[in-house]
Amino acid sequence: MTLTFEHIPVLSRQLIAGLEIRPDGHYLDATVGGGGHSSLILAIAPAITLTALDQDQQALAAAQAHLQEYGDRVQFYQHNFADYDPGSLRFDGILADLGVSSAQIDRPERGFSFRQEAPLDMRMDQRRSLTAADLINTASATELADIFYQFGEERFSRRIAARIVAQRPIQTTTQLAQIVLQAMPHRPRQSIHPATRVFQALRIAVNQELLALDTLLERSPSWLKPGGKIAIISFHSLEDRRVKFGLRNHPNLKVLTKKPIVADAAEIAANPRSRSAKLRLAERQDDSKE
Ligand SMILES: C[S@@+](CC[C@H](N)C(=O)[O-])C[C@H]1O[C@@H](n2cnc3c(N)ncnc32)[C@H](O)[C@@H]1O
Repeated sequence: MTLTFEHIPVLSRQLIAGLEIRPDGHYLDATVGGGGHSSLILAIAPAITLTALDQDQQALAAAQAHLQEYGDRVQFYQHNFADYDPGSLRFDGILADLGVSSAQIDRPERGFSFRQEAPLDMRMDQRRSLTAADLINTASATELADIFYQFGEERFSRRIAARIVAQRPIQTTTQLAQIVLQAMPHRPRQSIHPATRVFQALRIAVNQELLALDTLLERSPSWLKPGGKIAIISFHSLEDRRVKFGLRNHPNLKVLTKKPIVADAAEIAANPRSRSAKLRLAERQDDSKE
């Protein structure tokens, strides 16, 4: 396990090829994370510049350290991409590599993982007040069940929510994982831990991830120059469905990927996280209806 924000950039070869990086282009990395994808883009040519966003202060600091050699070719902002306003700036390409980074998961104190005992936090942006513990300890059983079902596709959502409400207050990740395990009607046969879907659902709810994604899909095409490309990497079907239809239905975009691009066997072997990654690309049309 690594405790750094170094991150193996998922689907990077396909992403760079799909963006058709211009040697004098200006790019927006809406989820800079550890700066893995950004460093590959910046390394292509010395006149490339980049705007880097992340809502997580620790990720941004890690990206700043990683991309230090590029100096003022990179501008960093701690921003949720849903709240970003580029003003009159227009980009040759936009990249969003969604969700949580392995660095966030590997830091127990952030509360994303049930593998280590830690406070139930899960905020990507620590300036926000609502934590996973707040949600778990104050939402009604129905609200919790809805979160687990809608954002985790958890079929035992009601049983789990009832058990949580009966055993509150719940403060730590491992306490919650144990309660989820106890709420299961039988010993699960699948290889993933039964708390995986509940943790994914809580994380999505705490960070309002799907709302942010919908806003990005609606607004970001107008941040592109004509001919500019947008590339989005998603990690679960709730995201991918939104990306697929968001790109397809936007009046100013032409979809470049009929089917999503996925990792090959070699990448999956080297980086298991890439197993569920899906990359979709679209191009801004110049007959803009803006
Ligand atoms: C999968 S990681 C990105 C890794 C990055 N591509 C790299 O190569 O290092 C996702 C990052 O997006 C950030 N993030 C997620 N949702 C965001 C949002 N709505 N606005 C800004 N940043 C977000 C997370 O904090 C995390 O650092």
